[in-house]
Amino acid sequence: MQTESRKIPVDIVDSEDFRLDVCAGLRQRQRSIPPKYFYDAQGSALFDQICETAEYYLTRTETTILDEHSAEMVGLIGQPCALVEFGCGSAVKTPLLLRHLDSSSVCVLIDICKPQLEQTEARLAAQFPNIKILAVCADYTQLQALPLPISCDLRPVIFFPGSTIGNYTPEEAQHLLRKAAKLIGPNGSMLIGVDCKKNPTVLNAAYNDKAGLTKAFNLNLLARMERELGAEIEPDGFTHYAYYNPALGRVEMHLVSRFDQVIRISGEEFWIGEGESMHTENSYKYWPDEFQDLAKSAGWDIEMFWTDADKFFSIHLLRVS
Ligand SMILES: C[S@@+](CC[C@H](N)C(=O)[O-])C[C@H]1O[C@@H](n2cnc3c(N)ncnc32)[C@H](O)[C@@H]1O
Repeated sequence: MQTESRKIPVDIVDSEDFRLDVCAGLRQRQRSIPPKYFYDAQGSALFDQICETAEYYLTRTETTILDEHSAEMVGLIGQPCALVEFGCGSAVKTPLLLRHLDSSSVCVLIDICKPQLEQTEARLAAQFPNIKILAVCADYTQLQALPLPISCDLRPVIFFPGSTIGNYTPEEAQHLLRKAAKLIGPNGSMLIGVDCKKNPTVLNAAYNDKAGLTKAFNLNLLARMERELGAEIEPDGFTHYAYYNPALGRVEMHLVSRFDQVIRISGEEFWIGEGESMHTENSYKYWPDEFQDLAKSAGWDIEMFWTDADKFFSIHLLRVS
């Protein structure tokens, strides 16, 4: 029985990057901060709670599709394989695939949030003692190679759930998908979850839950800036603002300044007027064929796709062309 669970010594997430990216983002005309910085320990815990809300249909729906079709998915992917998950978070959906994998398969979890990644790795290793589970704390957009164990010759498959691809503009998503195709090589495949366009009322509710968890998640970015960068920010100076922009097919999340104020970080001052915003996240939504055109333009063929009865969410199996 294979019980080994080992960390690959890669840790390329640098807190100096956080300071540089925040300051660069705050210097822009439309101020913005990359959404990957939501995910410190507090942000990741809040995201898990958001996934449990009635309004946030995404996790529930993707899980239902995986639960129903994961045997077919694994059959098409072929095994044994090396499942490499981009942005695993607490990996609530990963077991739905792992339960069909045989013991010579490997699962590599990649996430930028180290404390949560360590917990996730421990949980999956205990749940699947027969499968080698590896954790890599890294920014998957910066990988130079897939972090597979030395001498692993299993066929790699990228698992990229959660519609995290929607956090990138279509141009950035095309670039990331092209890079992923290069990393995985000929015949490699990717199973990717993508949220669909739908009634804006449903979308607006999903990013403005009644319990205020998405608001807390958004505001935690400011608290993280205070904690990690020593940023000076007016308490209660910003409000959460999220809405679906149908012209651009995306939910935009902002932190809107409640009054004229100044943020100070490392000796630099950023003056922000009342009503001005920091753009903190995009969540692009795609019709299935729209996403498939994007994937094709990035060097992937579409092998299969699955959706739910309401056509709220889609999962696509792509193969490098
Ligand atoms: C929307 S959550 C999805 C979590 C989980 N995959 C799911 O489906 O519920 C995005 C996850 O990706 C991670 N993440 C975001 N950007 C990342 C990056 N550039 N590199 C590595 N992890 C990243 C976050 O820490 C978070 O756990």
